[in-house]
Amino acid sequence: MELLSVPWSLLSSCCNNVTLLGIFLTAFVLLFDFMKRRKTWTRYPPGPSSIPFLGSMLHVDFQQPHVSFTQLSKKFGNIFSFQICWRNLVVLNGFEVIKEALINKSEDIADRPRLPLYEHLGICGKSAGMILARYGRAWKDLRKFSLSTLRNFGMGKKSLEERIIEEAGFLSSAFESEESRPFDPHFIINNAVSNVICSITFGDRFEYTDEKFQKLLHLFEESMKLATGFLPQMLNAVPSMMYLPGPHQKILQIPKQIIRILKEIVDEHKKIWDPANKKDFIDAFLGEIEKTKGDQETTFNELNLLFTTSDLFSAGTETTSTTLRWALLFMLLHPDIQSKVHEEIDQMIGRERKPVLGDQVNMPFTNAVIHESQRCGDIVPIGLPHMAYRDTEILGFFIPKGTVVVTNLSSVLKDETYWEKPHQFYPEHFLNAEGQFVKREAFLPFSAGRRVCLGEQLARMELFIFFTTLMQRFTFLIPENQPKPQLDPCFAVTSSPHPYQICAKLR
Ligand code: HEM
Ligand SMILES: *[C@@H]1O[C@H](CO)[C@@H](O)[C@H](O)[C@H]1NC(C)=O
Ligand SMILES: *[C@@H]1O[C@H](CO)[C@@H](O)[C@H](O)[C@H]1NC(C)=O
Repeated sequence: MELLSVPWSLLSSCCNNVTLLGIFLTAFVLLFDFMKRRKTWTRYPPGPSSIPFLGSMLHVDFQQPHVSFTQLSKKFGNIFSFQICWRNLVVLNGFEVIKEALINKSEDIADRPRLPLYEHLGICGKSAGMILARYGRAWKDLRKFSLSTLRNFGMGKKSLEERIIEEAGFLSSAFESEESRPFDPHFIINNAVSNVICSITFGDRFEYTDEKFQKLLHLFEESMKLATGFLPQMLNAVPSMMYLPGPHQKILQIPKQIIRILKEIVDEHKKIWDPANKKDFIDAFLGEIEKTKGDQETTFNELNLLFTTSDLFSAGTETTSTTLRWALLFMLLHPDIQSKVHEEIDQMIGRERKPVLGDQVNMPFTNAVIHESQRCGDIVPIGLPHMAYRDTEILGFFIPKGTVVVTNLSSVLKDETYWEKPHQFYPEHFLNAEGQFVKREAFLPFSAGRRVCLGEQLARMELFIFFTTLMQRFTFLIPENQPKPQLDPCFAVTSSPHPYQICAKLR
């Protein structure tokens, strides 16, 4: 629910919807916070001038924030500063700069800014879940536990790979039941991807028609939409507004409902918990709570179990599902590339055997197509907000402790000084002259360093198995009499394709 709940989405076009009352209240509250102004440091990155209340926001065209930011980086360079209200932000652009920050200065920028709105849900201190957790021991313990729990997923009867392969089968049957009629693949793909997280956290998948499952998915979608809206950003920037009466109380209702449902599921787990047979993430977490009972500093408590589970859903479903929709869209638009993938599948796997992870090393072209889909899809354009954990320096510029650091991942994935054809779908970016797969340093869709996406390995497994399973079974076509799908992204929760229709013809 918290993913992308970033202060700079303040700059979204939603601004138009603010009521006069909202503006009035905001201005009123801002008066009290007026005194917090930017100090001046030497070697602080350059940026547009800022004024009290609004910071540098007058320099941004709210209809096209992207254009304004591109102009700012043209004017001030790859490292520029910016102010939203009184929050200092430094925006980093381009592969060289972001590599230096995320990799060389990884720990210096490993903190996250406070998001006071969510503190009203109880997300803070040792119970902040994973995504929003401040850099420190609670986050480290939780991250280490989660990574090893995901990795050792041999805990239940089935391995993670087997679970994904099984889900890929259901996904492909659901496509088949559309019988070559045009349909929007969004919904079905969401179900499959969410089910992998259900399987990991709850121990089991759901039927796509299950009411509880659909309700949970719906709530997550709504809460993500809310989190990226205008009001939550305002409430995070101006926390004292939270104490005024108003619509913000409603914002927290959906996350509260989610937490309530998750709590029911956790309570069911507690009833039949068996330390000798931990079958899912919740069981393992309950074990950790048991193990660290006397420890005052422990991050393993029940509230944190709920937030962490919720984080796995918010971070792990929309992202992977959007990437798959981009990949299928690129197949629609590039039939020649699609048939090369078909050929490679026929050669290496055939039409009968189910694709497994081990096939990946023998399938450089398919692998390159998936990587290029992630590069072009560019689904988390400005990453998640980092914050300077201590005073630091990036390529000669001083970044004081507490500065919000924006890593523009898009500027890395599309860096014109690095990629041969930055603005085209060109799988050859990941292939050498002999057709072998090559890794590229500027491939950073999952970010890098201490805060690198926790689910990277899982996401890669899902992308390979889901994509290959669908491509083995179907040829994808643009429905007749339909306009060519659009390539420009729409900025919903992630940067995703506009809804499109697809025909899935059995091969
Ligand atoms: C294609 C799919 C995915 C993409 C592109 C993606 C991308 C990202 C990015 C850019 C970040 C921010 C890293 C930073 O702060 O610098 C992130 C964080 C995170 N992702 Fe993913 N992600 C994907 C799938 C997943 C999955 C499947 C999971 C679930 C296991 C997941 C769990 C997380 C978590 C928990 C964090 C927060 C890590 C932290 O703050 O320590 N992600 N992801
Ligand atoms: C991020 O990079 C992209 C591509 O270079 C650019 O268009 C955009 O304006 C940048 N955003 C920010 C916030 O600097
Ligand atoms: C960043 O780290 C790499 C490897 O440790 C090193 O080669 C490089 O010089 C460092 N970059 C800077 C600017 O210090």
